This record gives sequence, C-alpha cells and structure tokens, in this order.
Amino acid sequence: MYGPAGFYRRPEGPAGHFRTSVHASPLFATAVARLLCRVDEALGRPARLDFVDMAAGRGELAAGVLGALPAEVAVRARVHAVEIAGRPDGLDERIAWLPEPPDGLTGLLFANEWLDNVPVEVAEVDPEGVPRRVLVRRDGAERLGEPVGGAEAEWLARWWPLPGEPGLRAEIGL
Ligand SMILES: C[S@@+](CC[C@H](N)C(=O)[O-])C[C@H]1O[C@@H](n2cnc3c(N)ncnc32)[C@H](O)[C@@H]1O
Repeated sequence: MYGPAGFYRRPEGPAGHFRTSVHASPLFATAVARLLCRVDEALGRPARLDFVDMAAGRGELAAGVLGALPAEVAVRARVHAVEIAGRPDGLDERIAWLPEPPDGLTGLLFANEWLDNVPVEVAEVDPEGVPRRVLVRRDGAERLGEPVGGAEAEWLARWWPLPGEPGLRAEIGL
C-alpha cells in the first residue's frame, strides 16, 4: 500500500477508488473550518494559526478548509498537508506538503480516515480445515502459504474459533 509503487502513491489518489466524507460534500470541509475557528478563539486568535491535515490524500480537505475560512482567519492560517504520496499538481501554493507534521504547532491537527489503513495478515482454511496464511504476488494472484502459527494461531483460536474449537465464548463461560 505504501511502497514506491504502492496503492496510495497512484496518480488517481484515494478518491479514484473510494469516497470519504472529504470527497462526499464541501459541507465536511466547512465543518472542519468552523472547528478550526473555535480552536482559534480558544487560543486567543494567535498571529499564526496552524492547521495540519494528517494523511491528506490529494489535499482535498486542506484546500477546502482554507477556502472555507473567513478572510481574517485565512490570512493567519498556515495549512500543512502531511502525506506519503507526492504533492499533487495545481494545489494551492499556500498549502505546505510534508512527509511529517512540523514541530511547534499552534492550532489543530486533524486526521480523517488515516488509521483505517492498517495492513493485516489474512488467513484462509485449506480443504483439510487448516488455517493458512494467504500469500499475494505482485500481480495480485493469491495462494495459500504455511499454516498460521504462534501468536497469530492463538489470536485465531480465541477470536475466530474454527468448528470444534471452544474460542472466547468458552473462555468467558458462555
Ligand atoms: C483512506 S485515505 C484518506 C485520505 C483523506 N484523509 C480523506 O479522508 O479522504 C488514507 C491516506 O493516508 C495516507 N497515509 C497513510 N499513512 C500515512 C503516514 N504515515 N503519513 C502520511 N500519510 C499517510 C495515505 O497515503 C492515504 O492518502
């Protein structure tokens, strides 16, 4: 997903594959801009107000928030888009494009649908009922690999018991 030729570095970006609240409606950026204004007030209207969009996709939210801020706030705002993919062409030049959030921020750090992208191991049972790790080739072809073992086998037995295994329900007396 995150490697040099990974899914999230493709030119079309996340919006080419699925829709988040950021893409669904400009109302979302407007709501985040209002939140940023409340943070601004709570901070006593600092001379520099930072907004960080963590895992910024192609900068859609950062641009939307900047566009939705009242002029008096926008002029003090410093918008930082943090993303592993490269800066998209044509992005508002007031938006900084960074691999990590800068230090010493005063304002709001916001992350929409960042932590939903957690790579996991996938297992499937083979015809004999043995759970095996699913291996995926670069071209997407899948095959079953070695049987699941160790901590992963314990997790599987507890949370996803196969027929004949007691699992968590037995552990908690159900
Ligand atoms: C599901 S997309 C969400 C994009 C956008 N926030 C939205 O709501 O439309 C997840 C994004 O997180 C980015 N990402 C994942 N891990 C990251 C990291 N450690 N630092 C920066 N960006 C990251 C991916 O490249 C991808 O653009």
